[in-house]
Amino acid sequence: GSMWRGIIHAYRPFLRVASIDPITLHEGNTPLVPALRLAQAIGFPGSLYLKYEGLNPTGSFKDRGMTTALTQAVAEGAQAVICASTGNTAASAAAYAARAGLRAIVLVPAGKIALGKLVAAMAYGATVLAVEGNFDAALALVRRAVEVYPIALVNSLNPYRLEGQQTAAFEICDQLGRAPDWLAIPVGNAGNITAYWKGFRAYHQAGRIAALPRLLGVQAEGAAPLVRGHPIDQPETVATAIRIGRPARGAEAAQAVRESGGRFLAVSDEEILEAWRMLAALEGLFVEPASAAAVAGLRRALAEGLIPRREELQVVAVLTGHGLKDPEVALRILPAPARVPADWEAFRRTLEPLLERP
Ligand code: F0G
Repeated sequence: GSMWRGIIHAYRPFLRVASIDPITLHEGNTPLVPALRLAQAIGFPGSLYLKYEGLNPTGSFKDRGMTTALTQAVAEGAQAVICASTGNTAASAAAYAARAGLRAIVLVPAGKIALGKLVAAMAYGATVLAVEGNFDAALALVRRAVEVYPIALVNSLNPYRLEGQQTAAFEICDQLGRAPDWLAIPVGNAGNITAYWKGFRAYHQAGRIAALPRLLGVQAEGAAPLVRGHPIDQPETVATAIRIGRPARGAEAAQAVRESGGRFLAVSDEEILEAWRMLAALEGLFVEPASAAAVAGLRRALAEGLIPRREELQVVAVLTGHGLKDPEVALRILPAPARVPADWEAFRRTLEPLLERP
């Protein structure tokens, strides 16, 4: 039939992964949404598209890499998987491990993970450990654990994660009929930007696209090791997903950005939240703060003249995770709903002025 059956089924010839029946939640095939109002608001006369990865089964792009990582882990006879995570990897690993019937152990920075991610990982039945330290410290523990114990590592250090995540680049090219001129993408542990570049290069080599995009890797100012050129010991940002100071795939990401003729940029938390508001209010796209960093970076790139304001340009920004992941940040910055008595006259007095506004 024509049912979508996930990224391994769709892109098998391009993916190096065990040929067993995939562990899948039918991830991928996410929309590439034109963003006319947002483009206008940021003064970009070209074509702006948003790759809405929050619509994956667990609400982030991680599912693309987890279908391949868990499929490979099962093929190799693993009994348990482990990861360090700012939240999305944890939720995705937990879901795919549940589907595979494997145990999942996830280490998250205590108190620095968005509520929706924590709750999801718990619901999927993972053993969640809150590490008294940041993501980088948690990852160091996990790397050590897999040297000592027979547990499969499913962080993006695992090459099968990148195999799956490159399919987002394939989809963008298939959807546009070409590669974009620029791809704006948030960068934390630097696995995803590395995977996109791998995907674009593979499609280019296969003759599916004529030219490669430039990569705009966007980090938060307080957690921008790839912009600064050195590790950050105490990373801080409202975008907890990318609160990372020692990106595991930093060197490869730096090479990808260089090869593409692109750039890394840092944006402030204020810029991130402003882009977050614009995405929701102008386009109806509710994302988590890390995802809005891509749009904030694009805005900055336009302001700096790094990306020219030209009509013929096609730009894609990757919206990596769903807004429902992080209700707490949203509640903190949005005004609370006005309270209205359950009474017609009182309600009318509230309603009428609302209808007068343009
Ligand atoms: N956006 C979101 C929503 C993320 O969750 C992450 C990473 C990124 C962007 C950055 O991707 O790490 O490949 O550069 N989240 C990881 C996690 C670290 O544990 O969920 P990256």
